[in-house]
Amino acid sequence: MAYKIGLLGLGTVGGGTAEILLDPKGRHPLLQELSIYRVGLRDLSKPRPVKLPADILTTDLEAIVTDSAVDIVVELIGGLEPARSLILKAIAHGKHVVTANKAVISRYGDEIYTAANNAGVYVMLEAAVGGGIPVIGPLKQALVVNRIQSVIGIVNGTTNYILTKMQREGIDFADVLAEAQQLGYAEADPTADVDGLDAADKIAILASLAFGGRLKLEDVYCEGIRHVTVADIAYAEKLGFEIKLLAIAQGSVEDSLQVRVHPTLVPQIHPLASISGVYNAILVEGEPIGQVMFYGRGAGAGPTASAVVADLMNIAAILQTETEPIPHPLLSCHHQHYCPIAPIEELQTRFYVRFLTNDKPGVIGHLGTSFGNNNVSLESLVQIGFKGQLAEIVVLTHETREGNFRNALKEINTLDAVDSIPSVIRVL
Ligand code: HSE
Repeated sequence: MAYKIGLLGLGTVGGGTAEILLDPKGRHPLLQELSIYRVGLRDLSKPRPVKLPADILTTDLEAIVTDSAVDIVVELIGGLEPARSLILKAIAHGKHVVTANKAVISRYGDEIYTAANNAGVYVMLEAAVGGGIPVIGPLKQALVVNRIQSVIGIVNGTTNYILTKMQREGIDFADVLAEAQQLGYAEADPTADVDGLDAADKIAILASLAFGGRLKLEDVYCEGIRHVTVADIAYAEKLGFEIKLLAIAQGSVEDSLQVRVHPTLVPQIHPLASISGVYNAILVEGEPIGQVMFYGRGAGAGPTASAVVADLMNIAAILQTETEPIPHPLLSCHHQHYCPIAPIEELQTRFYVRFLTNDKPGVIGHLGTSFGNNNVSLESLVQIGFKGQLAEIVVLTHETREGNFRNALKEINTLDAVDSIPSVIRVL
């Protein structure tokens, strides 16, 4: 029996998905059970990466999600609306859904999975995090027995590309971003990528799966890479670190979680330090498995479509073997509770901080005193040199409570000798 697919969107990922579905030779035979029945587009006149019969194309996306002949809806239009409404409508009409839409799932996952469970359908989202990297599936299945301790990822290719280029070529953030935009590697509006929002959506989804509860996206602490400078990257390198935008979820189900996105000094010997360019990687640590790392292309037509079609085939395989499509307990989401997320002030971490100060006796002593007053212990404090008339001082702290560290910085900011604090970056 062939399963009929209603494909919403024929952009980069939609085109890649259609290409795989139209070219089953040499792939798993189950692929031949999937057929593209309708394709929904916003604009029929736009040139498309793949040729499809004109009579299956339509601009009426709602007609696809309500069509009784469609078995599975693949939502690849992105954005919040109409994607959310179309997904909900597809579910209400008994369709299974495959989506790559991290923004919708991280905000409306609660509503969507509740509706899917009530309707007895699947909503699959392997392509929403890490593009072609299989990480959702492993968290749901192969790693399911583990007590997950942390999920730490480089989950945004654009920012990893920018940071890699800044590090290798010594070019400032703004110039690398402008070049990446010209080459089409970065979006015209880069906000979601460079301000960490895309990574926050992804870590919210990963954390929910890893720690078995729902999450409120607004509780995810999020800081992007706009303030990272070539100088900090170079100082970090001298100290034995690379700077990466990390998405981190750690803690335990019983206790509260830390879920956050921010630039981070990663020790050069850490497995995530060597992930460069547009590549993504996700390091999962659990008991008893220890560390497992997933690495690959986090975006692009082929890799992302690979994840989309794998989800389609998983649904097809289940539909072939089950008479009643009762959601498989490992492939559906039955979490009802929300995971408590600790405020960032409670985080225990090390910090890298760079000061510009007047070069006069006692300044370093004052800095040390303010840190000491707030119970922040220092690992090293080095006057690197001068920036104009000002002394440049780099401090690495020992692990400390973030709230105490922030209080120390407040106190330091009031010191006459301190000109500015250009960089504060957490250390993994
Ligand atoms: N904009 C994302 C990135 C890809 O740069 O990694 C889509 O998730």
